[in-house]
Amino acid sequence: MKVLVVGGGGREHAIIKKLAENKEITKIYAAPGNGGIAQDAVCVAIGAKEIEKIRDFAVEEKIDFCVVAPDDPLVLGAVDLLEAAGIPCFGPDKKAAIIEGSKVFSKDLMKKYNIPTAGHQVFTTAEEARAYVEAATEFPLVLKADGLALGKGVIIPETKEDALQAVKTLMEDKAFGESGSRVVAEEFLTGPEVSVLAFTDGKTVVPMVSSMDHKRALDGDKGLNTGGMGTVAPNPYYTKEIADECMKTIFLPTIEAMNAEGRTFKGCLYFGLMLTPKGPKVIEYNCRFGDPETQVVLPLLKTDLFTIMKAVHDGTLDQINVEWHDGAACCVVLASGGYPEKYPTGIEITFGDTADAIVYHAGTKLADGKIVTSGGRVLGVTAIGSDLTEAREKAYAAAKNIKFDGVHFRTDIGVRALNALK
Ligand code: AMP
Ligand code: GLY
Repeated sequence: MKVLVVGGGGREHAIIKKLAENKEITKIYAAPGNGGIAQDAVCVAIGAKEIEKIRDFAVEEKIDFCVVAPDDPLVLGAVDLLEAAGIPCFGPDKKAAIIEGSKVFSKDLMKKYNIPTAGHQVFTTAEEARAYVEAATEFPLVLKADGLALGKGVIIPETKEDALQAVKTLMEDKAFGESGSRVVAEEFLTGPEVSVLAFTDGKTVVPMVSSMDHKRALDGDKGLNTGGMGTVAPNPYYTKEIADECMKTIFLPTIEAMNAEGRTFKGCLYFGLMLTPKGPKVIEYNCRFGDPETQVVLPLLKTDLFTIMKAVHDGTLDQINVEWHDGAACCVVLASGGYPEKYPTGIEITFGDTADAIVYHAGTKLADGKIVTSGGRVLGVTAIGSDLTEAREKAYAAAKNIKFDGVHFRTDIGVRALNALK
């Protein structure tokens, strides 16, 4: 079996390492992959958004199965192209990927099918949005670009001035391009956040172990929003009772709503949840595995990933018993100095003893046989332990043995989760 994984970050590295455990798979390709992925797969120099080239490569190489991991190619319709060329895929088609591709779509879906979420309004002109801000009496506000914006399209202004600036940034300066041509304003919710990734074939939904992201750049949840500075799994706030409630009020209704809209979702559906005083509500849907959530979730997966992915494709997920390891996982992201703002690249990385951890590469490349930095989030260092305390200790011990100039990581990944367990 030859498998192609589209993407080139930490999430894709975690997927590839897990797929490699399957003996049926003889060769794994990654497009484009990265410096670390090159140790586990054959990297091909095709960007994740170059979906026609990906299709052509897959046909030429007679790829047996393709995993499309990032949001961009999914929303562009990579799965539609590949499936039309006869290549089975894991991932939603274009019609279903809109659940992440358009916030207006997902908010309207939740409203129509009574799925709990923050109340919202849609604005198509800056004038309308400004009138909303001027009339607002309670802050902060929540303003979101409609389309994909590299995870940066959410602005939570604390003051009227900042909110007016946000409208300008999104709708007039078009900081995120056309994705800001429509803006969603939402009710501000509070409560612990939980990420739940779920396998679904459009009939059965199998939630994975829950996780907690750490989005801000600095300790104590200070600093700018990032793609994610670390994760832990399971998320202690997500109890069995809450999980049961989410299955009933959110997961199954979402799958059914997508079917009713003629947009059956097959793949990994990511539920970004907030556990509000009024119950769990959806903050966002993603049409893919989370990054860096995947780097703690997949290491805890006991069942063979490829078997599950094929069942999702074939519509036979109900026949699979998906099992998880006990214990906990912790992933510490090592970022370039300056991230999420300007940062240098091309800096050599040296690896000391990391034997107790799994080092996932996110932003690295090979240059003259050396591994150098090539992105903001550079590595995700994951460890598993019998509990979160042990997982944290092992992850940090390994993280401290990896060096590059300017390296920056949070020292409190998992602290909030540990406090919740007390
Ligand atoms: P996103 O990029 O959609 O994951 O959003 C980034 C972060 O903004 C989320 O993780 C939440 O912390 C926060 N957020 C998004 N929507 C809301 C909301 N309606 N109320 C409060 N916080 C929110
Ligand atoms: N870690 C958040 C995301 O993958 O969107």
